[in-house]
Amino acid sequence: MTWLITGGTGYIGAHVARTMAAAGERVVVLDDVSSGVPRRLPPEIALVRGSVLDRELLDRTLADHGVTGVVHLAAKKQVGESVEKPLLYYRENVYGLTVLLEAVAAAGVRRFLFSSSAAVYGVPEAELISEDTPCAPINPYGETKLAGEWLVRAAGRAHGISTACLRYFNVAGAAEPGLADTGVFNIIPMFFDRITRGEAPRIFGDDYPTPDGTCIRDYIHVADLAEAHLSVARRWPPGTRPRT
Ligand SMILES: NC(=O)c1ccc[n+]([C@@H]2O[C@H](COP(=O)([O-])OP(=O)(O)OC[C@H]3O[C@@H](n4cnc5c(N)ncnc54)[C@H](O)[C@@H]3O)[C@@H](O)[C@H]2O)c1
Repeated sequence: MTWLITGGTGYIGAHVARTMAAAGERVVVLDDVSSGVPRRLPPEIALVRGSVLDRELLDRTLADHGVTGVVHLAAKKQVGESVEKPLLYYRENVYGLTVLLEAVAAAGVRRFLFSSSAAVYGVPEAELISEDTPCAPINPYGETKLAGEWLVRAAGRAHGISTACLRYFNVAGAAEPGLADTGVFNIIPMFFDRITRGEAPRIFGDDYPTPDGTCIRDYIHVADLAEAHLSVARRWPPGTRPRT
């Protein structure tokens, strides 16, 4: 298998690319480096610089590298920005995915793994969320992820592509210092940013039913998440369609 990893110079994508390459998978990264850091990738992993909106570049990359599977992580991911710029989020996250799936279907790629988010659930009634918990996103970012899941599922059925969508919760940590999350938009980098500036971390919410009134959130270590991608990538025998 040769895997195209979109968004592979990003925080999570670089962990996924390195983990899959270290496990013996052939890997090529496509990234417009809008929020990525190319030096997160070792020299042996090829980087194609460009956008998932560029159909011609996608066609060339899939053909040149003999791509047989795609892990799609490229996206805009800031909730607040998505409220201010919903058109940008729908364009990058939904239209970009559409263009990528068109290229994938045309090239006969048979496996597609999509980075979704716990943001698809919105504010669920249930304390513990399962895959069957109803999805009701409360911001454009979450909406683009839910629409992305529908798109992936429909294209998979129509074009015989095995698909899987992984709904990540809060991703934290780093397999090594050079792979750390550099964007100050996730909670752990926000904490460290304030601490290194001599300020106390800000915790929102004080009326949750917890001992100190702050909310409880779920985290996954990015190295475990990267391993999960590898497991899913290897779980699909050719021609089968796992649940999405
Ligand atoms: N970090 C989290 O806690 C979290 C939680 C749930 C889901 N996710 C999802 O995981 C994925 C990766 O997130 P991340 O935290 O690594 O973010 P990130 O910003 O570090 O990585 C995103 C990567 O995609 C690239 N990119 C963006 N738009 C592109 C485009 N049009 N074409 C090509 N490349 C493009 C960026 O340059 C960057 O390298 C995203 O899809 C995000 O929605 C992240």
